[in-house]
Amino acid sequence: MVGKINIAIDGPAAAGKSTISKKVAEHFNYIYIDTGAMYRAVTLHTLRNGMDVLDDLSLLDIRLTPLPDQKVFVNDEDVTAEIRSMEVNQNVSRVSSLQVVREFLVSMQREIAKDKGVVMDGRDIGTTVLPESELKIYMNASPEVRAERRFIEEQKKGIEIDMRTLTEQIRKRDEQDKNRALSPLRKSEDAIFLDTSYMSIEEVTSKIIHLAEDTIRGE
Ligand code: DC
Repeated sequence: MVGKINIAIDGPAAAGKSTISKKVAEHFNYIYIDTGAMYRAVTLHTLRNGMDVLDDLSLLDIRLTPLPDQKVFVNDEDVTAEIRSMEVNQNVSRVSSLQVVREFLVSMQREIAKDKGVVMDGRDIGTTVLPESELKIYMNASPEVRAERRFIEEQKKGIEIDMRTLTEQIRKRDEQDKNRALSPLRKSEDAIFLDTSYMSIEEVTSKIIHLAEDTIRGE
């Protein structure tokens, strides 16, 4: 038995990371950290107040509340819905490519994970943020499946967007996330690859729970 572990879940936009990560975290009663939400929160802050706010990020308080209904707070304001806006979608890759932003958030993420018992999802968790994670997953799905999943999510929120625009946005964000200079989206060599294109949420969740149980048992 190795006790509590950290689970790193990486992959491109709309691969199902956050849905699955939440379920895995709830199963083990672990803390869930959506690092994408943190980059979105900083992006929203720059869109509202200008890029100068990046000169002193120590003034910025970002907080993720516990599951089951995780909310994102920036300086005590609930920005959970606003960080998913189209404007944030279109600017988040640019803001998250900046060194000052990554250094600030990565140190916050490492601090949260230092006592283990964390499921963290993002783009660089296995490679950069928590390279010592006991279990690493790299999750992907075909661009068509990812666009379709995002389309359904947007529809539920009452947002009108056509599939072509959505597919193009996802493709562009993948390209930016994979090609940036600092910790680009990449599968860590020791990560387990899961193609979720034809797997249900339940199948992916149970697969990761089994892998984590094996890891906790030390197998
Ligand atoms: O997971 P998401 O789509 O909410 O992430 C939004 C953006 O944040 C993503 O396009 C790139 C950036 N990001 C990052 O650079 N590093 C992470 N660990 C997580 C997200």
